[in-house]
Amino acid sequence: MSMRTPQVEKDSTLPAEITIYEVGARDGLQNEKAVVPADVKAQFIRQLAAAGLGTIETTSFVNPQWVPQLADAAEVLELLGDEGRGPRRPVLVPNERGMDRALEAGVGAIAIFGSATETFARKNLNRTVDESIEMFRPVVARAREAGMWVRAYVSMCFGDPWEGPVPVEQVVDVSQRLMDLGCDQLSLGDTIGVATSGHVNRLLDALGDKGIGDEVIGVHFHDTYGQALSNTLVALRHGVTVVDSSTGGLGGCPYAKSATGNLATEDLVWAMEGAGVRTGVDLEKLLSTSLWMTQHLGRPSPSAVVRALGTAS
Ligand code: HMG
Ligand code: MG
Repeated sequence: MSMRTPQVEKDSTLPAEITIYEVGARDGLQNEKAVVPADVKAQFIRQLAAAGLGTIETTSFVNPQWVPQLADAAEVLELLGDEGRGPRRPVLVPNERGMDRALEAGVGAIAIFGSATETFARKNLNRTVDESIEMFRPVVARAREAGMWVRAYVSMCFGDPWEGPVPVEQVVDVSQRLMDLGCDQLSLGDTIGVATSGHVNRLLDALGDKGIGDEVIGVHFHDTYGQALSNTLVALRHGVTVVDSSTGGLGGCPYAKSATGNLATEDLVWAMEGAGVRTGVDLEKLLSTSLWMTQHLGRPSPSAVVRALGTAS
């Protein structure tokens, strides 16, 4: 016999409900070498929505030469119609050219993405930290004018593969500057998956001290060092309720070689279901979507829950 659902024992140290911010179609796919056809991407997003995921980041309007996998952003949204638009279907937008394309495609929410470190700002955005904030300024202004919801990512919050440790004050400073542009939510990126529990608490405390409270924060843990789920629990106990995850545990950043997949949505849902925390997600439906996607990508999912359930009988 195998267990297809966890035994439910309410964990009163966790919130009653969380919001999963699904990044599989963007963070998950952006790192894939072989181009996934636009209609497969659209079907992936439709199935994620059908599995109960409310917020789904769909694609990126970045320079297509930098991320060829997502060069078909407009086409994917065209295929999705209304299902790909609205305030809970954000897309990445780095600059005004990207904003032109996003407006043309009729998107209702965007995410800008800054870096806590100079090296990654240079590698990922071809800008200094200061220059990248100036690049985002008109993007956020135009988004607000158009009534869009705006998220700001900050990468390398817990360590940088080129610079090593990243001072908490430096992360707080960049976060404040990004939020001051007029963003609704801040996502704390552990791009290379190195964070640990005390560090998560310390950063959340430091942001809170500057007026950036848990209610506007999402956490974005990559699982490179196997810490993503435990760090997520720490953030939830601190008071955060928005968690970024990627179906099947796909993901990584092409401009940070040491980055691997995000926290797998299935691993998160298993943990939440067992603890009696509502996510709205149907784990079996999500699992079939993951297994279907791994067939397209030609390799198994790195998610422990997908492996356990996908092969169990
Ligand atoms: P650049 O090369 O400095 O751009 O790139 P530029 O402004 O000099 O423009 C060069 C040419 O590209 C121009 O064309 C532009 O029009 C065109 P030309 O005049 O030569 O014919 N161009 C564009 N075309 C279409 N859409 C656009 C666009 N922008 C310029 N948006 C840029 C600067 C920021 C654009 C580039 O560095 C870029 O696209 N970077 C994105 C890299 C990326 O997507 N990384 C992955 C996402 S971030 C991530 O994964 C981390 C996260 O998950 C959180 C975490 O884990 O930490 C969010
Ligand atoms: Mg990421």
